[in-house]
Amino acid sequence: MTDRTLQAANSRLESFIRRLTAQRDILDTVCGAIPPSGPIIELGLGNGRTFDHLRARLPGRRIIAFDRTLAAHRSSVPGEGDLVLGEIGKTAAGFVGIGAALVHADIGTGYEDKDAATLQWLPELVAGLLAPGGFAVSGLPLEHPRLVAMPPPASVRPGRYFLYRLEAGG
Ligand SMILES: C[S@@+](CC[C@H](N)C(=O)[O-])C[C@H]1O[C@@H](n2cnc3c(N)ncnc32)[C@H](O)[C@@H]1O
Repeated sequence: MTDRTLQAANSRLESFIRRLTAQRDILDTVCGAIPPSGPIIELGLGNGRTFDHLRARLPGRRIIAFDRTLAAHRSSVPGEGDLVLGEIGKTAAGFVGIGAALVHADIGTGYEDKDAATLQWLPELVAGLLAPGGFAVSGLPLEHPRLVAMPPPASVRPGRYFLYRLEAGG
């Protein structure tokens, strides 16, 4: 590979494409394996693309989405009572114990310092939101004694997007 080809393969556009592909592939895989009851939690609604994907894959399932402000496409705005605005570290803490079947956290920024600050509270929050046996899909690696790392689909580059399952006991 020439230097230029290598640079292009590592461009932010390529990285973005890998992130979206990883999100789709992991979410598609996990949607068939989550516990049959319990809501879905979307941390970081953003434009609403992954929210819309989850809604299409899991029709009729409650999805509660969180973000600082509403910036989603109008076709992808959660229903009444299922959108929570504010700082996730504070707002989602009120939902600990809800027994979620799946938590998807897409709140990485690509800035090491900001992501390190998020990782001070995110793993504990995610573990607290999940039902035993529930799954977490995250753009940031989650280190928590109750979150067991699972292998993502083969299409996902190691370290690109992460999959965990909350241990059944405890
Ligand atoms: C990358 S975007 C999510 C994109 C979304 N998955 C989609 O498919 O459209 C991340 C979102 O998380 C939100 N976010 C990040 N950290 C947050 C925090 N601590 N509290 C509230 N919202 C946060 C940002 O405002 C942003 O809208």
